[in-house]
Formats: sequence, structure tokens, C-alpha cells
Amino acid sequence: MESRVDAPLRRNELPASDAPSVPRLTAGPLFVVFAPLLVLVAAAAILGVAAFTFGWHRVEMLVAAALAGVVAGTVAAYLLYRQVRQRQAASSALQSVTARVGDIVETAMDPIVAIDAKQRIVLFNPAAEKTFGWPRGAVIGQSVDKLLPERFRERHRAHVERFARTGETVRRMGGQTVLTGLRANGEEFPIEASISKHVEDGQQLLTVIFREVSDRVRAERLIARREARLSSILDSAMDAIITVDERQHVVIFNKAAEAMFGCSLNEALGAPLAWFIPERHREAHAEHVRKFGDTGVATRRMSGQRLVTGLRRNGKEFPIDASISQLEGPEGRCFTVVLRDVSERVRVEGELRHSKEELRKLGAAVNLAREQEQSRIARELHDELAQTLTALQMDVVWCKARVPENDATAAARHAKMEAMLKDAVAATRRIAAGLRPLMLDDLGLVPAVDWLVEGFTQRVGIPCELVVANNDLRLSGPQATAVFRIIQESLVNIGKHARASQVKISIARENGLLTIGVVDDGIGFSPQDPRKPDSYGLLGLRERASLLGGDVEIRSAPGRGTCVVVRFPVSTTQVPS
Ligand SMILES: Nc1ncnc2c1ncn2[C@@H]1O[C@H](COP(=O)(O)OP(=O)(O)OP(=O)(O)O)[C@@H](O)[C@H]1O
Ligand SMILES: [Mg+2]
Repeated sequence: MESRVDAPLRRNELPASDAPSVPRLTAGPLFVVFAPLLVLVAAAAILGVAAFTFGWHRVEMLVAAALAGVVAGTVAAYLLYRQVRQRQAASSALQSVTARVGDIVETAMDPIVAIDAKQRIVLFNPAAEKTFGWPRGAVIGQSVDKLLPERFRERHRAHVERFARTGETVRRMGGQTVLTGLRANGEEFPIEASISKHVEDGQQLLTVIFREVSDRVRAERLIARREARLSSILDSAMDAIITVDERQHVVIFNKAAEAMFGCSLNEALGAPLAWFIPERHREAHAEHVRKFGDTGVATRRMSGQRLVTGLRRNGKEFPIDASISQLEGPEGRCFTVVLRDVSERVRVEGELRHSKEELRKLGAAVNLAREQEQSRIARELHDELAQTLTALQMDVVWCKARVPENDATAAARHAKMEAMLKDAVAATRRIAAGLRPLMLDDLGLVPAVDWLVEGFTQRVGIPCELVVANNDLRLSGPQATAVFRIIQESLVNIGKHARASQVKISIARENGLLTIGVVDDGIGFSPQDPRKPDSYGLLGLRERASLLGGDVEIRSAPGRGTCVVVRFPVSTTQVPS
């Protein structure tokens, strides 16, 4: 640190109260110095007087008196020498203290300003020069007002005068209040000040130590602004946000939380989180938060995919979707839960589930009605129309036999009628079978699927193998119909899309589960692609399986063929209806 001894403070710049006083020779020290001396001189005088008065041992007496005089002189010289040394030491100590105080004031980081009773500046250290932007020469002897914005001067003057009248030695100006200083360039800035009072040479001086707090105030303002922003973000959030400390007591409770739980911020702050949880869940919830704290994971959804239950202050429970996060802060760990009241979602989900169930039932009823209607039409076609046509066919044959041999036109007309009737019978049977193969009802599932497979191979020209693990499948009517339709749709799809060279169908009943597999080695497709707008085949497949309490698995990829697997449960007691 640079020594400032070469630039000593002017006399009225010294804070005089701290300067040590110069030692002076007062009655006490004088007595100590001269008392032994006086005793010796007195002893020498008594001895001298005795030697002359009584005449005995005159020479010895004189020698003794001379000796006492010499000793007294030596002691006096020594004492005087010591006194001079002490005064020199005291004076140099005073100088060094003065210099040190001056040094401290000069090199202080904080601005130090002393003012006299008229509030004129008498001391202005370099830090003050730097802070206020005034050179010392420009302010010494000037009013302290120079360092304050005009609007504060009156109040400040009154404050300083009041302080000068009180007996306090040191106190902080304005308590915790930050004052406003004025720089030479007119800029205002926040500053903290402590003031002390002392008297020097009968004159009262006030010394003010300032501390520039611009950075601190700026930081405080920043923090305050950040906190305000954070709290407005919290309050504008749609979700309830609650932060609890390690003891699970509420420290943050935003507006949405107030609305959600029907609890004001004032009431909630410091309250245990348990307030907002139904009693039966409290222990488990507290344990959950504790365990979460131990995992070290920063954030996660509470209770996995399940919803948690909240408790309003009016005692009503409601479903919540919650996620939790933890943060290690300066005041320990805290947990933040973000909560969303999902009452509405749960209600809508319930309605959706219900309406899906209704739809499924409706679908089942429609399917059944359609199957029954198709079956009825197929039977009518088969039993009524086809039989009548067959009878007509026989009549035509009878008529043909009775046509005169020379009537070639009639014979030709009859032959044509015969052929048309044959086609009509075949078409009727084909249409009836398309609507519903009667053999499904008459002979059972396996012969019906056999007929389906045969027809597919004939029509499309792709070899198809049917493997039935056990012939006695013991399926109910709707189950058998579903299996038939599933295989039918799968074969239609292979014919339409697969460009396969081989198909294999398997039906197996095992452990109360019926499994149908239709595998082709065709071009395949991506089952996860969105459904084409007018494609309902696979959708119907899933619908049928789900109506039977089962599911459908489609394994396929472009160029890898397709495997459709349908499974549904069949009870052992089930009897075909
Ligand atoms: N075996 C298969 N091989 C290749 N692609 C297939 C196969 N099965 C289905 N697909 C593909 O899946 C799509 C959906 O089939 P889906 O049966 O649902 O509808 P569709 O056959 O196009 O029309 P719909 O069955 O309603 O008459 C088909 O368009 C086809 O691209
Ligand atoms: Mg299809």
C-alpha cells in the first residue's frame, strides 16, 4: 500500500478525537524526579553543617557531604536525561499515530467526509473524491449540500443537526435506509452512511463514512424483479404449483393452487402438505415424497400413470395428475409438485369408456342382426328360389322331351331355357353362399373354412393350407361366425393386396384360448401406418375379436409377408349354439 506520510493531512483534516495527547511534566512526575535529589542535597547540607558546627570528624563529614552532593548531581542528571527520552518517545509515538490515522483515512476503500458544525466539509479522502467525482480542493470548506441531490438537502440538514444535538457517538444514518448521493456529473447513486461525532479544539466535527451500494442495490433490485417475475409466472400458471420444504410444509402456493384447493395463500403458507391429501393416503404420500428425495432423480410423474387424489379445504376429494421435482437450495432441499385437476378429464374419460362400451354392444347387435338377416336371406334363396328354379329346370326338361322333332326353333328355345335355368340355380346358390355359407350352420366351422379355402385357391390361384389342431373346437354360434369372417377377410386381403405365393391358415384351441393364424409370404405392409380412409376390413377384424374378449396381432413389414393372429378366450363348458 502506498504510504501517504509524504502528503500529511492538513491540521483540520484530522479526526482529532483519536489523536493521543502529548505527555507533559505535571506535579506528580516532578515530585518523583526531584524528591530523591532533594533528600541527597539535604543530607549533604546536614553533614556539612554538622562538620562545621561540631568540629568532629570534620574531614570525613566534608567528604561524605561532597559524595552525597556528587551522587545527588549524578541522579539529577540521570533523571533529567530519562525525562527527555520519554518526552522524545511520546512525541514520536504521537507522530506515528497521527500518520497512521492519516494513512487509514487516506487509503480507506470507503469515502470518508468530515464536516464542521456549519456542515462545511473539512475532510475529504481519496475514496470520496473517486465516489463523488470532486477533487478535494473543490469541496473543502464547501457545504456538504454539494454531495446531495437538492430535494434531499433540507431533510438531510435537519437530520444532521438533530444528530449533532443528541449524545450518541456513532449511529447509522437513516437506519437501514439507503441514502442518495450526488456525483459531480449530476448522477445520483445509492449510498449507505454511518456518522460519528467528536470535538476537536472545542469545535464539534461530524465524520461520515459512506459505502457505495450501487452494486448491492442493483443486485437487490434484480433479485426483487426476478422474484416478482417468478411469482407472476407462478400465479399465471394454469396448473397448481406447491413447493414444500424438507418437512413437507408449504413454502410456495400459487393462485391456481388457491383456487384448486379453496385455500388462501396466507392459510396455506407453513401448513403441512397433508392438508391437501385425504387422510387414508397421507402416510403413503409422505413416504413417496421421502423415497423420491432419496432417489436423486430431479423430476418425475407422481404415482406413475395413476392419478392421485387431492382434498379441497371443504373436504371434497378430486382426481389430480401430479408431477414432482426436487431442488437443493440454500435453505435445504425442497419439493415442488405441479398439479392438474383432472376431474373433467376423468368424467369425460368415463363417458368415453361408457360410450365405447355402448358402441361395442351396438356393433355386436348389428353384427348379429346382419348375420341373422344374411342367414335368413341365404336360406330363403337356397330353400325357396333355388328349389323352385330346380323344379322349373325339371319342367323344362319335361317340355323339351315333348317338342315335335321337326320343330327345331322350339327345341333351340328349350335348350336355351335349360341353360339359363342352370345358370340361375348356380347364381342363386353362389349368392346364398356368399351371404352366409349354410354349411357353417349345417356342418360346422371346419367344413365351412375348408369350403372357403377351396374357393379362394380356385379363384385366386394361390395354394392355401389349412391346419386345424383339434377338430372338436366346441365354439358357440357367434364365435364360429367370427372365426369364419376373420379368415374370410384375411383371405380377401391376401387376394387383393398380398401378391403371395403361399398361404397357411391354422386354428388351435389350447388352454381355453382359441388362436387363429393366417400367414402369407406376400409383399407385406406397415401395420403402424395410419388407416386408409376407406379401409374397414382390419378394423372389423379387431372389432370382432374384441367383442369376444380377445385381440388381434398383425405382424407385417414391407417385403416380409403378413401374419394375422387372432386370439380370444373360450370356456371349457361352452357348447355350440
Ligand atoms: N395380407 C396383406 N398383405 C399386404 N397388405 C395388406 C394385407 N392385409 C392388409 N393389407 C394392407 O392393409 C390395408 C388395410 O386392410 P383392410 O382390410 O383394413 O382394408 P382394405 O382391404 O383396403 O379395404 P376393405 O377391407 O375395407 O375392403 C390394405 O389396404 C393393405 O394395404
Ligand atoms: Mg380388406
